[in-house]
Amino acid sequence: MTTRIICLGNTTLDKVWPVFDLPTGGGKVRASDYFEVGGGMGANAAVAVARLGGSVAYWGRAGDDAAGETMKNEMRSYGVDVNHFRLFPGARSSTSAVLVANDGERAIINFRGAGIPDHPAWLPLEAVAGADAALADIRWIEGACALFAKARGCGVPTVLDAETAMPAAFAATLPLVDHAVFSEPGLRSFAGNRPLDNDEDRIAALARARSLGCKVAALTRGGEGVIWVDDAGIHRQPAFVVDVVDTTGAGDVFHGAYTLTLGEGADVTDAMRFASAVAALKCTRHGGRAGIPTRTAVTAFMADMQVRPAST
Ligand SMILES: Nc1ncnc2c1ncn2[C@@H]1O[C@H](COP(=O)(O)OP(=O)(O)O)[C@@H](O)[C@H]1O
Ligand SMILES: [Mg+2]
Repeated sequence: MTTRIICLGNTTLDKVWPVFDLPTGGGKVRASDYFEVGGGMGANAAVAVARLGGSVAYWGRAGDDAAGETMKNEMRSYGVDVNHFRLFPGARSSTSAVLVANDGERAIINFRGAGIPDHPAWLPLEAVAGADAALADIRWIEGACALFAKARGCGVPTVLDAETAMPAAFAATLPLVDHAVFSEPGLRSFAGNRPLDNDEDRIAALARARSLGCKVAALTRGGEGVIWVDDAGIHRQPAFVVDVVDTTGAGDVFHGAYTLTLGEGADVTDAMRFASAVAALKCTRHGGRAGIPTRTAVTAFMADMQVRPAST
């Protein structure tokens, strides 16, 4: 039976205009193309789980506008269960204008959406007992807390995508989650915006996260790999050395892959290694979603890497 994962959190629609140069003032520039693609941490993680062969439900919120419909249809096309991707009447979805220049530089204007209610009462929490693992990002705190609390009661392992947030968001979620996986900006914001430019400071911040209740506190550091702290001590997983083309969504995909592997019963070390391989392969291809590898590709890559190990 395929592993059942719940991913809860953020969804946004990127409206992408490739241009030669980013505009530097007013005026009009011509785009060579135009396309729309879904993004958002929790939503991208759900797509990653589906691409890797897991059975996944996305629990999220948008407006009942064209952007909401587009996002829902796209996730459905990846095989994600979108029955509880709710489009709220009269609300407006989060969208971004993304200008991508020839040299890869980007300018992004994000509208966070409006009129989307925060109360999580509509979530089908009775489904949590039947899941193998659950992930939430830190953008919808009420939803994340409802999911984590229910999962803890059922013994279902949970993962938090700990991106940049206000202190109250960390204070609410860290006591309820099992695995908190921070990005570098996320851990900095948790540490009161201190720089965290040496390992001692990073480990101290991760230890403080654990003191709030999570069992595993991890930090993803892009091409520098992952460091995590648990009861047994401090551990590291170097990043796999790949030809990087586009790191969009690397963290989101890492979180999805990590949650899926935990749900399959892997230990933390194996889950970190697998998620690092998935995220590294994503970085070799364009697109936060289109670049997500299949399970077959990841398995082949990891077998190859046993001969050519990750960087140190
Ligand atoms: N340049 C890279 N080379 C190899 N792996 C990478 C690279 N960038 C990211 N990754 C993988 O993706 C994970 C998440 O990336 P990171 O940049 O830390 O997250 P986010 O996208 O949330 O900022 C890293 O821990 C690593 O495993
Ligand atoms: Mg991230």
